[in-house]
Amino acid sequence: MKIIRVESYEKMSALAAQIIGGQILLKPNCVLGLATGSSPLGTYQGLVRACAEGLLDFSQVRTVNLDEYCGLTGDNPQSYRYFMDTNLFHKVNVDKANTYLPNGVAGDMQAECARYEALVESLGWPDLQLLGIGHNGHIGFNEPAPDFPVRAHTVQLAESTIQANSRLFQRIEDVPTSAVTMGIGTIMKAKKVLLIAGADKEEIVERACHGPVTPQVPASILQLHRDATVILSKN
Ligand code: F6R
Repeated sequence: MKIIRVESYEKMSALAAQIIGGQILLKPNCVLGLATGSSPLGTYQGLVRACAEGLLDFSQVRTVNLDEYCGLTGDNPQSYRYFMDTNLFHKVNVDKANTYLPNGVAGDMQAECARYEALVESLGWPDLQLLGIGHNGHIGFNEPAPDFPVRAHTVQLAESTIQANSRLFQRIEDVPTSAVTMGIGTIMKAKKVLLIAGADKEEIVERACHGPVTPQVPASILQLHRDATVILSKN
C-alpha cells in the first residue's frame, strides 16, 4: 500500500482529484467507484472545477457508488443518491443514466443486492475505487465483523457509525440503522483503490495499513490489494 501524507484537507482533495482526473483522461469511458461523506467533498469540488475549465470530460464515464441507506429515496436530501447528484453528477457532464447506486427502497433487498453486484460486474468492475474510512475501519458500510463480506449485502450500521453520521441529520433517531453496501470482495476487484482520510483518521489508517489484516478492521484488507493508495491529511 502506498501512503501519501499531505499537509491539509485541501491538498488531499486536490491530489485525489488529480488522480481521478488522470484516470478519466487515460480511459474516457472508465468505471469510477465513488464514495459519499465529508472526505470526498473537496475531491468532487476539484473534479467539478476541472470539468468547468474544460480539462475533464465525463460524458463517457460510468460511476458506481459504494452504498446507500435503506429506506431513503433518491430525492431525500439525506440519501447518498441526493449527495452524489448535488455534489458531483449535476455539476459535471456525466450522463445521469450512467450513474449507479444501490436502491435503498427496493422491496426485496436481497434481490437488490444481487442486482447491484451483477451490475457492477457487468461494467467490468471499477477501474478506480475511491474510498473514505470510518473511525472503526469500515469501508463502504462493511463494519467490523467476524468475516469479510464478499458481495453486496445489507448491513446493520454500527452504533459508532450512526453516531458519526448523525451530524448530517436533525436528530440521531432519523439516521437509518441499515444500509446496502458493496462487499469487500467487490471493492477488492477494483483495478485501483484510492483511500482518502483526514487527520482525525490517522490512528485507524495506521492500524489498517500496518496492523494485522483482520475483518475487525475491514480496511486492513487493502494491504492485499495490488494497487492501493492512501492519501492521509496531517491537518
Ligand atoms: C460512504 C462510505 C463510508 C465513508 C466513511 C467515512 O459512502 O462508504 O465508508 O467513506 O464513513 O465518512 P466521512 O468521509 O464522512 O468521514
